[in-house]
Amino acid sequence: MAVISSPEQYVPEDVFVDLRHVVGGNLFLKCEGFNFSGSIKLKSALAMIDAAELTGELGPGRGVVESSSGNMGVALSLICAVRGYRFACVTDIRCTRTSRDIMRALGAEVHIVTEPTPEGGLLGARLNLVRALQQREGLVWLNQYANDSNWLAHYRTTAPGVARAFPSLDVLFVGAGTTGTLMGCTRFFHEHRPETRVVAIDTVGSVNFGGAPGPRHIPGLGTSVKPQILDVSLVDEIVHVDEADAVAASRLLVRHGFLLGGSTGTVLAGALGWLARNELPDDALAVAISPDLGERYVDTVYNDQWVRDTYGARGVAALVRRLSPLLQERPHPVASPDEFLDVRADLVGVSGRSLAPPDPGDGRSRL
Ligand SMILES: Cc1ncc(COP(=O)(O)O)c(C=O)c1O
Repeated sequence: MAVISSPEQYVPEDVFVDLRHVVGGNLFLKCEGFNFSGSIKLKSALAMIDAAELTGELGPGRGVVESSSGNMGVALSLICAVRGYRFACVTDIRCTRTSRDIMRALGAEVHIVTEPTPEGGLLGARLNLVRALQQREGLVWLNQYANDSNWLAHYRTTAPGVARAFPSLDVLFVGAGTTGTLMGCTRFFHEHRPETRVVAIDTVGSVNFGGAPGPRHIPGLGTSVKPQILDVSLVDEIVHVDEADAVAASRLLVRHGFLLGGSTGTVLAGALGWLARNELPDDALAVAISPDLGERYVDTVYNDQWVRDTYGARGVAALVRRLSPLLQERPHPVASPDEFLDVRADLVGVSGRSLAPPDPGDGRSRL
């Protein structure tokens, strides 16, 4: 039983989904969406606020400003509501309507930037507005991209939670946004269990690991400005995932009743690709971190029209084509090709106008 008097006191570290029946292979998903802010960001938000209070930077009568793609904004809105701070969240058009509404319900001010800067993209534009609000209104900028409390939160909670549940873990897959989760987990496992490989999963179009900037639509993962807390020299391995694959993986999970966030799809797609390329023993154990649940994404990742509008017909066809062989190559392909056709059926909608390549006509699918 959990009896709490404040929402941030409930942060379960022990919820894991066994994905063996979904993907084959010993892959488990650590679910971070079961707290009152609905995402992993509650831990970083709490650590940053606590640290700012400890140094005296934050206190009665002060306010907070932060740039967020949604989840950090929601988490800070919650903590600021509990502690009585004004909170201004600067976000951009990729932030889901639901996240904006939740922040407003919790009493936050939400500023939405629409125009990217040439050198820093939408994140650059967000940071410009944050600095303006910091100077103009005297708000405290926690700066999750540079704040050590961000990664320390995961060093102290997320990573030990994984290690407690899987003491002989072989691989941990962690998505990279601000890289707080990644840096905390990487440092923890390097120090406490160096046999565990920590694999960073980033989105194609993110500059975190030096790739070229490109359009991204799933909030949470990837950046257009490299975060200061990211120490690339500590990162063992990096996988880049196309957003189309992330959508396919999310839709595969939801077919099994797990409605999870789009970045969970990214991490899962990256993990499956990595596991397919790396021969691990049959009893090897892998965990992937799922940052949030899927309700905030029913208008995007789980909306057929949004998928068509965002990725186009080619993207939709590629989406199904790319993930299908990955799963079929798994040693125990529990996800049958039929499962995929269900995914495809969702994506082509009920009009019957298929966006996938034509069937070869011999009864086999080209997927
Ligand atoms: C949905 C989602 N996925 C992934 C992440 C990445 O976490 P981090 O910022 O620790 O890299 C976040 C963080 O905002 C998120 O909200």
